[in-house]
Amino acid sequence: MQNNIRLAGFSGSLRKGSFNTMLLNSLQELLPADVSLEIISITEIPLYNGDLDTPDAAERPQTVVAFRNSIEKADGLIIVSPEYNYSIPGVLKNTIDWASRGKDSPLLGKTVALMGASTGMWGTVRMHLAFQPVFLTLGMKQVKPEIMVSKAKDKFDGSGKLIDEFTKDLIKKQLSALKEVLLKQKDNK
Ligand code: FNR
Repeated sequence: MQNNIRLAGFSGSLRKGSFNTMLLNSLQELLPADVSLEIISITEIPLYNGDLDTPDAAERPQTVVAFRNSIEKADGLIIVSPEYNYSIPGVLKNTIDWASRGKDSPLLGKTVALMGASTGMWGTVRMHLAFQPVFLTLGMKQVKPEIMVSKAKDKFDGSGKLIDEFTKDLIKKQLSALKEVLLKQKDNK
């Protein structure tokens, strides 16, 4: 039986020194056995325009088509995002909107691990809450525990490596839970 699990992950922050992108990159060393992670950049995704979002994808921007294909190929998703104004950053919501349309949306029913890092005390708790209606409407299933990294400046070293052992342990638990759910889904196919 083929047990390899393929994950796709993206960061909701576009800036070079992003703590959330550091967090996403740190996952490569924390993955369970037989799990791989493709990191996708959302930097080139244009603003959503319904005129270009045709069902046959003929008009869709190439970056959007590529993004949707990467999600389609993945067994599960990892979203790592900052909290902007108590909510989901516009660039990330915009990307989700592009991937959400049509009966063939690759997000429908997808299992997702959500995590976020903020420089403040509350570690993206309100971004997590803001995602709940999005997951609800798309039938996406979120695995626990939730990962909320507060005071991010203290949790990474100068090279961008995650150095907080508590956070690493929590992430390992979340990724194991994700693997378990995805293996069950594969068994039931
Ligand atoms: C923020 N930040 C922020 N932090 C927070 O805990 N709650 C919030 O509502 C906001 N709002 C917010 C809005 C905007 C427009 C920006 C740019 C920032 C601070 C945020 O946590 C901090 O900048 C993080 O470092 C952003 O994540 P990256 O870019 O480091 O991944």
